Amino acid sequence: MNTEQIKNLDNENIMHTYGRYNVALNKGQGATVTDVEGKEYIDTASGIGVNSVGYCNDGWINAVTDQLHKLQHGSNYYYNEVVSTLAEKLCSVTPFNKVFFGNSGAEANECAIKLARKYSFDKYGKERTTIITLKNSFHGRTITTLSATGQDVFHNYFFPFTPGFKYAEANNFEDMLSNVDDTVCAIMIELIQGEGGVNILEKDYVQKLRKLCDEKDIVLIVDEVQTGAGRTGKLYCFENYDIVPDVCTSAKGIGGGLPIGICMCTEKYANVMTPSTHGTTYGGNPVCCAGALYVLNEISDENFLKEVREKGEYFENKLRTVKGVKDVRRMGLMIGIELEKDNAGEIAKKCLENGLLIITAKTLLRMLPPLVITYEEIDKAVSILEKTITEE
Ligand SMILES: Cc1ncc(COP(=O)(O)O)c(C=O)c1O
Repeated sequence: MNTEQIKNLDNENIMHTYGRYNVALNKGQGATVTDVEGKEYIDTASGIGVNSVGYCNDGWINAVTDQLHKLQHGSNYYYNEVVSTLAEKLCSVTPFNKVFFGNSGAEANECAIKLARKYSFDKYGKERTTIITLKNSFHGRTITTLSATGQDVFHNYFFPFTPGFKYAEANNFEDMLSNVDDTVCAIMIELIQGEGGVNILEKDYVQKLRKLCDEKDIVLIVDEVQTGAGRTGKLYCFENYDIVPDVCTSAKGIGGGLPIGICMCTEKYANVMTPSTHGTTYGGNPVCCAGALYVLNEISDENFLKEVREKGEYFENKLRTVKGVKDVRRMGLMIGIELEKDNAGEIAKKCLENGLLIITAKTLLRMLPPLVITYEEIDKAVSILEKTITEE
């Protein structure tokens, strides 16, 4: 089928919840992807930060297919070696002590929210349920994670939303303090607001939040669905802030392309979730876990992470030379590009015609390339972006 035929099939049969770009992807290698007509693109979106080790990574494919040849699914009634091994590896390379496996970022956050509320219920009773999140945040699309999302635009249509969420201004500690009362059980943050426009939280602010949570026995949840899994040049972004969250969620890049969502907690919270308090049929699917284990082994290597930091810096330096680029907000390979003109959406569309996949975040262009992107691919991506901005 060509793009037009696929598009028609899609339009006729799939609920129109997505604004799609006019391209039908077919196959990829590294950070280069080809559409059904055979046209090549440098991919700086990687399926919204998912394909962390690139397309058709041999090691990842072998890990996944080896597991597929053994057992595709067993259910949580039974033990499974690869699932336990992934959990053990996660607990050994992070400060966390227990993990829960789900299928998406939103689900990982649901688990984090349930854990925080149960911790508080067990210790303080029914009234301490409020969770403070940040304005302009994004935490997912379930009814509860929409509630957690601090943007009015997401609080529509689906009433009633889950109660018990308040929103504080990012990087404003006084505003956070003014929201904290005896009903608060958790503070939930993204260290870099990805969907919100690549807004990087200040280190001092985050460290103050950590201290506040310690003083008041409030659970600090860090949503690393977008920032985690090596994206910012550390295995998890909180390492850049010299803090340890109580609960941390991970998804997207940790799966390398297969769906997985992970909620991790420190020892203090290890026994909060008890039998029957949480679960999901596909959680800890062995095929997804085999892929994630491969990814984790790759990205937890310090040399790999160093390269992510170096490539990020190289990317930023090149982007800063592009005429029409006003500013670059970046940590590792999580990149937000502020343009002089307010035309990020148009540029993203035009880049496609010129052979570059790039996404937006609010008024910015956003790049979340595969972490294995080569310097040659970075050069190509920047030159396509430059050409596109010049043409506009
Ligand atoms: C910070 C953050 N949290 C949660 C989510 C939701 O993840 P998922 O789409 O896998 O449910 C996203 C998705 O973009 C995200 O960026």
